[in-house]
Amino acid sequence: MEKGIRIADLFRDEQKWLGKTVLVQGWVKTKRDSKAGVGFIELNDGSSLKGLQIITEQQGRGYSELLGKITTGSAILVEGIVSVSPGKGQSIEVRAERIHLYGRADPAAYPLQKKRHSFEYLRQIAHLRPRTNTIGAAARVRSRLSFAIHQFFQDRGFHYVHTPIITSSDCEGAGEIFRVTTLDPAQPLISAEAEDPYKADFFAKPAFLTVSGQLQAEIYALALGKVYTFGPTFRAENSNTSRHLAEFWMVEPEMAFYDLEDDLNTALEFIKYLIGVVLGECPEEVEFFGRYIEPELMKRLENAAQSSFEVITYTEAVDILTRSKERFVFPVEWGLDLQAEHERYLTEKVFGRPVGILNFPRALKPFYMRVNDDEKTVAAMDILVPGTGEIIGGSQREERLDVLLEQMRLKGIPTDDYHWYIELREFGSAPHSGFGLGLERLVQFVTGIPNIREAIPFPRTPGHAEF
Ligand code: 4AD
Ligand code: MG
Repeated sequence: MEKGIRIADLFRDEQKWLGKTVLVQGWVKTKRDSKAGVGFIELNDGSSLKGLQIITEQQGRGYSELLGKITTGSAILVEGIVSVSPGKGQSIEVRAERIHLYGRADPAAYPLQKKRHSFEYLRQIAHLRPRTNTIGAAARVRSRLSFAIHQFFQDRGFHYVHTPIITSSDCEGAGEIFRVTTLDPAQPLISAEAEDPYKADFFAKPAFLTVSGQLQAEIYALALGKVYTFGPTFRAENSNTSRHLAEFWMVEPEMAFYDLEDDLNTALEFIKYLIGVVLGECPEEVEFFGRYIEPELMKRLENAAQSSFEVITYTEAVDILTRSKERFVFPVEWGLDLQAEHERYLTEKVFGRPVGILNFPRALKPFYMRVNDDEKTVAAMDILVPGTGEIIGGSQREERLDVLLEQMRLKGIPTDDYHWYIELREFGSAPHSGFGLGLERLVQFVTGIPNIREAIPFPRTPGHAEF
């Protein structure tokens, strides 16, 4: 099969290609004919936001029949000469000498017309929406960020650990877990099996999709030093918000001999690094999102990449919120969790840049977080960003056996199921810390996309698992 040049590569080095014959392949974004038999096709191959202008000129009957068949959405090949474009909006164009139509798209039925479609509508056609500017650009940014995540940790001596997707533990203890079973609800168990239904089940015990790879990452940190896990995580959170998904990707570094301050510094360096990559390597996409999606975007990203972050304690955050004149829907009081509206108020209105919040009340956070000397708070850390609110959650882990057992008792965590976690505190326990960054929330932050459903190719939310 013939292989063309990527349109992005053509644009990157226009001078080099001028006058040369090239072959390009992609999908027709728009097509219009002018008088005098000259036609214009905007061709997009997904390598860049900008399409390539193709000029077609009448060359006999067969050719004009072929041109007539080419519609918006058609997949085509074009061979032609790269020329200086006299028109506005592009400096080069390709004068077609040969065109091949791979697959046509019926204009009466093709769901993507040349107009702005709502994100809700596009979600229903998730098989075609990556051909739109916004979803295509978000996909390229997401891909670049994923690679940068690996680069950041690999450059700093971290090892990539693959933690399990199926597990019998609930790391966050919030009970928002999806069950994994081979039992068929349509086929009731016979009475003998029904007494212990798990006996008949695949794993012979309750099993779930992981909510976080942290506990297993801790195992490897206490052997390899610095590790990270990066993969899909699942939460049966029945909340239909613009920042929650039932399936999302999380990157979780875990570091031996790191305390909360080291953890925070790593997280801040990490975020700045990732923003720097997006600004430096996805300028076309950032410009697009700033123009069409979030006017504040460039300012936000430059602020986050350059300025230092604000760091306050949970107690200070509650003070600021109670003293503010803002009317919140949810109550603010020491001991209550911060809601999205509180987080956004702090990072957008009070500080105008990313904010780290430390030392949350013990009762609000999972069993594994290290108890502070005041015994009322734990060494927790959340990082909030404008537009999204919480983007990172992390902590120093409880390495003291007696305190960990007390935490598990208070929170009703069965010690039998976590004997291995407890043993790590019996055999060479060491201070260690880590955090989790939600990839989709990061994509939201760097693109300004208002709803997390556009930050992942195939969003899973309550009632939605199509495609
Ligand atoms: O704050 P969370 O729940 O922390 C943990 O899971 C820890 N075990 C991480 C660790 O210390 N290793 O989740 C971490 C991040 C959040 O800050 C958010 O960015 C993202 O994961 N997140 C979600 N993203 C999309 N949809 C959801 N339902 C999310 N829940 C959490
Ligand atoms: Mg959290």
